[in-house]
Amino acid sequence: MVREAPLAMAAGLSRAAALRWARQSIDRLDARRLLQHVTGCSAADLLAYAEVPLSDEAVHAFKALVARRQQGEPVAYLTGVAGFYGDLLQVSPAVLVPRPETEALVRWALTVLDGCPAPRVADLGTGSGAIGLALAGARPDAVVLAVDVSPEALAVATRNRDRLTRHNVTLHCASWFEGTPAEPAFDLVVSNPPYINAADPHLAGDGVRFEPKVALTDGGDGLSAYTAIVAQAMPRLKPGGWLLVEHGHDQAESVAARWRAAGLVNVESRQDLSGNPRMTAGQKPGADRGA
Ligand SMILES: C[S@@+](CC[C@H](N)C(=O)[O-])C[C@H]1O[C@@H](n2cnc3c(N)ncnc32)[C@H](O)[C@@H]1O
Repeated sequence: MVREAPLAMAAGLSRAAALRWARQSIDRLDARRLLQHVTGCSAADLLAYAEVPLSDEAVHAFKALVARRQQGEPVAYLTGVAGFYGDLLQVSPAVLVPRPETEALVRWALTVLDGCPAPRVADLGTGSGAIGLALAGARPDAVVLAVDVSPEALAVATRNRDRLTRHNVTLHCASWFEGTPAEPAFDLVVSNPPYINAADPHLAGDGVRFEPKVALTDGGDGLSAYTAIVAQAMPRLKPGGWLLVEHGHDQAESVAARWRAAGLVNVESRQDLSGNPRMTAGQKPGADRGA
């Protein structure tokens, strides 16, 4: 059998041929997003004008990005942007790349806030600002406090807040609620904290190993953030307010047990799109506000 020679990447190659070359080593969608980034073209333009030749400069830039993707760097770090809940967010290696699963947490949070006028919301561990900014966009009447322990992450979130002009979001550098005023209280505290067990091999996986450790793991069993968050959130929730978090697929029972032990009621876990229990909510007793 005669083997086809691998495609070479050289100046003058068409966009279509460049994509074929890249697909020898990286995912098809990743290749397309990187070529869009290099050429500034939309996906539709890449298809419609597939035979347009690439400049020397574009070939050089595309080759470099494909090589980095091949080494495991997330596409979002290479392009500097990630989509989340209809927003295009700037991202850098200082923040977790927002995940599609987390959009389900935003949808649940919005349900919880239904019928609550001018809600006060805290997003703990905001990273790029994904959750807090999404809630602030969907609920312009909300007042959102977005907190992160990482000043570098907070700088990214601040840029996103300013670019999206979500003036109803205030950013604060702290460990969870530490140093934040006890009043006024919150209708909703939402968080996607670091929850991966430090021994989990996923930490070394594709893309993940380039993300900040502080965003991924607590350095222990992955549950310590929930213990700290529920303890600090309880006095800051209004009666009837909700504590809603994302967690690992095998952590729902541990999180729900912490919620009940702290005195939260109506504790419920829900699944992500893959059918894994992925988020848990509980309500502070004392007022009649449904989920
Ligand atoms: C899993 S990432 C979530 C980022 C973003 N909310 C999202 O969903 O894409 C967890 C975030 O929590 C932050 N974090 C970790 N420990 C923290 C702490 N003690 N207090 C506040 N933020 C913390 C990390 O810096 C990181 O930005």
